[in-house]
Amino acid sequence: MNSETYIVDSVIRSRKAVRAFRPDAVSKQDMIDILDVARAAPSNSNTQPWRVHVLAGGIKQRLSAALARAHTGGTHQQLQYMPDPLPESYRIRQEDFGARYYGALGIDKTDVDGRNRATGRNFDFFGAPIGMIFTIDARLKKYSWLDYGLFIQNIMIAARSRGLDTCPQVSFARYQTVIATQLELETGHEVVCGMSLGYANQHSLVNRLRLPREPVFQFASFAGLDESS
Ligand SMILES: Cc1cc2nc3c(=O)[nH]c(=O)nc-3n(C[C@H](O)[C@H](O)[C@H](O)COP(=O)(O)O)c2cc1C
Repeated sequence: MNSETYIVDSVIRSRKAVRAFRPDAVSKQDMIDILDVARAAPSNSNTQPWRVHVLAGGIKQRLSAALARAHTGGTHQQLQYMPDPLPESYRIRQEDFGARYYGALGIDKTDVDGRNRATGRNFDFFGAPIGMIFTIDARLKKYSWLDYGLFIQNIMIAARSRGLDTCPQVSFARYQTVIATQLELETGHEVVCGMSLGYANQHSLVNRLRLPREPVFQFASFAGLDESS
């Protein structure tokens, strides 16, 4: 059977990172429904490590403004998302992403200011009506972050099935203090990432990006399975 005949498969495949949104509002009830589905995610010993801040309107604008100031002022924390040097196979994919992304935005590889401005769009949630900030108790270990990833993917898929789009954004993690102040985060909680959510602007070139994936046999090995069954 073709995998597209499975509804969930086609919803998963329809998800992509959207970086330009229409201003159309998303209701509080939609957000509650999406999180109600997402909370069905499994977690280690059912510990459910997620804490979600769903933002719109004035509070979202104030957070975006504070982050924009911190971004242009260069006051982010020294946070390494990836090891340096990045092992080659990952570096190749990262460079491929950069070429496609900045290419779609018409920004030259050497244009540092242009790239910085593009990064800055993260903090405006790419114009989306909803911004989310995900936080976690900093005492938890990497296995709880794994739980968190499952929860976040559920949000993106539940959003897709309602015709909504998303962009998960680690960029927010660089601004722990700014976010903690603006959102009055609980002490001992840290920002995992953010997310933009809304309706995609279908006319935006950046939303035409389709990032390739490695084929299954590149990352999986099979042993003891009968191909015909
Ligand atoms: C944990 C995580 C963090 C990400 N952070 C950002 C980000 O800060 N800004 C951004 O524009 N995209 C971000 N992305 C989106 C990725 O660039 C995107 O998922 C990847 O290039 C594959 O493209 P696709 O999601 O459209 O298939 C992030 C994705 C994940 C899973």
